[in-house]
Amino acid sequence: MNAPTAAPKAQFKQRVFSGIQPSGSLHLGNYLGAIVKFVELQKSHDCIYCVVDLHAITVWQDPAELPVAIRDVTACYLAAGIDPKKHIVFNQSQVAEHAELAWVFNCVARLGWLNRMTQFKEKAGKDRENVSVGLFAYPTLMAADILLYRATHVPVGEDQKQHLELSRDIAQKFNNDFGKSIAAHGHGDVFFPQPEPLIQGPATRVMSLRDGTKKMSKSDPSDQSRINMTDDADTIALKIRRAKTDPEALPSEEKGLEHRPEADNLVSIYAALADISKADALKQHGGAQFSAFKAALTELAVSKLQPIGSEVNRLMQDPAHIDAVLADGAERAQQIATETMKAVKDIVGLVRR
Ligand code: AMP
Ligand code: TRP
Repeated sequence: MNAPTAAPKAQFKQRVFSGIQPSGSLHLGNYLGAIVKFVELQKSHDCIYCVVDLHAITVWQDPAELPVAIRDVTACYLAAGIDPKKHIVFNQSQVAEHAELAWVFNCVARLGWLNRMTQFKEKAGKDRENVSVGLFAYPTLMAADILLYRATHVPVGEDQKQHLELSRDIAQKFNNDFGKSIAAHGHGDVFFPQPEPLIQGPATRVMSLRDGTKKMSKSDPSDQSRINMTDDADTIALKIRRAKTDPEALPSEEKGLEHRPEADNLVSIYAALADISKADALKQHGGAQFSAFKAALTELAVSKLQPIGSEVNRLMQDPAHIDAVLADGAERAQQIATETMKAVKDIVGLVRR
């Protein structure tokens, strides 16, 4: 017989939350690092997928382009196979509770915690005095996004790991600071779960096609550095053909990819698109020259991305439909958000209607 276990901890309903910023066109890194996982998790979890427009405006966004970018991310979600009826798809600014909970978290998180965020340091660079306050507070809004729904699992790319750790720290400090009040209001001993990052597979960090040491990113000035979700077959072929490589043939084992960032990146992309491991990709293509491997990669990338790209283009012809999907999602998200905010106000001691 096993010894009796300790009293069960508060149980949280398993729920997935994630978001993508509408700050430029989505690329292969977003697709493999995030969207593929979003689609997969629909089978096993209740999922909430957000277009995080309030995060996007932490840096300047042209007001004429932002609505298009918001609809574009939404269209990518739908085209990739996210079901907005079974799950929830919406844009962050339609549910005001995100900003409201973020304020409470601004009062829970410590300045020292935010000072450690590497993404802020990278984005602010030497111009620290001149970036927005929002860019600095960005991670507390992200914690609010997740914890507003008391989400337990968060699929993201590798670059978001530190932000997820901060979300866990905020949840824990809130639970500790307000422990007595949480219990007094009948919520047991913890109010927020510790959200778990889901960072898995061969492509959690897709690199630039021009430089295997730099992340593929929306903000890279060179469009040749990334494959966009709406690139056509010829553009994808050209970008892969021009992708930086080294003169060696592909190794047959993963160890042979060490110190070959560009080769490693292309093999990782291939493996992720084919849904196989890097080791298996190398079993198939080890010994090949890049010319042959790039041809195989192009064929695979086109076969996966082109149907999505053309569906995005089709959906973008009908913005009213996209807006209706977002409005419906926002309404359903808000029902959950309102309940959480009521409880948070009671726990913090704010008088409410
Ligand atoms: P963002 O474009 O910054 O809003 O990122 C949206 C999602 O895509 C997040 O989960 C990121 O971690 C992920 N992501 C962004 N760029 C990459 C990349 N180069 N490789 C893998 N995942 C990425
Ligand atoms: N910070 C994330 C990114 O840039 C986007 C994001 C905002 C997010 N809120 C989130 C991701 C909540 C997961 C969960 O990629």
